[in-house]
Amino acid sequence: MHPLHGKVALITGGSSGIGRATALRLASYGARVALASRTASALERVADEIKALGVEALPLPTDVTDRERCRCAVEATASHFGRFDILICSAGVSMRGLFADAQPDALEQIMRVNFFGTLYPTYFAVPHVRRSRGSLVAISSLTGKRGTPSYAIYGASKFAVRGLYDSLRLELAADGVHVGVVSPGFVATPLRQHVLDGSGRPWPTPPTPPFRIWPVEACVDRIVRVLIKRQPQALLPAFVSPFLALDEISGGRLGDWYLGGKFDPDDARPPNNA
Ligand SMILES: NC(=O)c1ccc[n+]([C@@H]2O[C@H](COP(=O)([O-])OP(=O)(O)OC[C@H]3O[C@@H](n4cnc5c(N)ncnc54)[C@H](OP(=O)(O)O)[C@@H]3O)[C@@H](O)[C@H]2O)c1
Repeated sequence: MHPLHGKVALITGGSSGIGRATALRLASYGARVALASRTASALERVADEIKALGVEALPLPTDVTDRERCRCAVEATASHFGRFDILICSAGVSMRGLFADAQPDALEQIMRVNFFGTLYPTYFAVPHVRRSRGSLVAISSLTGKRGTPSYAIYGASKFAVRGLYDSLRLELAADGVHVGVVSPGFVATPLRQHVLDGSGRPWPTPPTPPFRIWPVEACVDRIVRVLIKRQPQALLPAFVSPFLALDEISGGRLGDWYLGGKFDPDDARPPNNA
């Protein structure tokens, strides 16, 4: 029997992309899944896909920037299924743009969704995963491992997620709780279609990434391995790890040189704003 069989997971951002694909994968292993994001119709569609696998799914329309709604989503998951083993925080929005061009309201919204939208469900899930000796997993980003031009606020929100989770890993270790962070590079999901510019408007055509876009299933593989092996972190691609170590040894000079060449400031504005 698969080690995730019979587990109960709440996945924020479960209606799309990485969250949806993870929900379907966990369900295929026999895990029961609650899905939280804003769009009820999209959640229902994913719940129907999961039910077609013969597994129970619970759609929970939730805006993760709303603390009380996050509390309700966690408690509804625990009371509906009678247990709570895994929280996966995948809800998030992307922003690409130059910091100096950005609007403060738009910057704050990225922190609200990506950071507080991880913090709130995590906060309410802690008592449950303490009881089940379960897992908390956050989807950060490679921009949360290394400062990247034109991803200042998005990267900051992902650094914040990682900082929160790195501390929680130590705080909760004695209770047998596993805390992991998955940091992907570019992944082929609908996120690309609604990347925001610095004013908070979607780019009219998605900005072209300077690196490979990884299939969503590769990201799900990382998430599943982190869960099963109770790993503290995973990167996608894994070969970034030695580059990050070399960058650290070089005092950041290597990464500044490399990323500075890959992210042209002229590419950081949508064509109509240039
Ligand atoms: N795709 C990539 O290249 C990539 C790379 C690195 C990290 N990531 C991270 O991976 C995570 C998943 O991204 P994805 O690629 O799967 O994107 P996606 O396909 O756009 O999915 C994003 C999910 O977040 C939900 N969401 C957005 N705002 C929300 C809010 N305020 N409250 C509740 N749910 C909200 C969306 O549903 P609703 O809009 O219906 O609420 C959707 O389910 C994000 O945290 C992202 O930052 C993605």
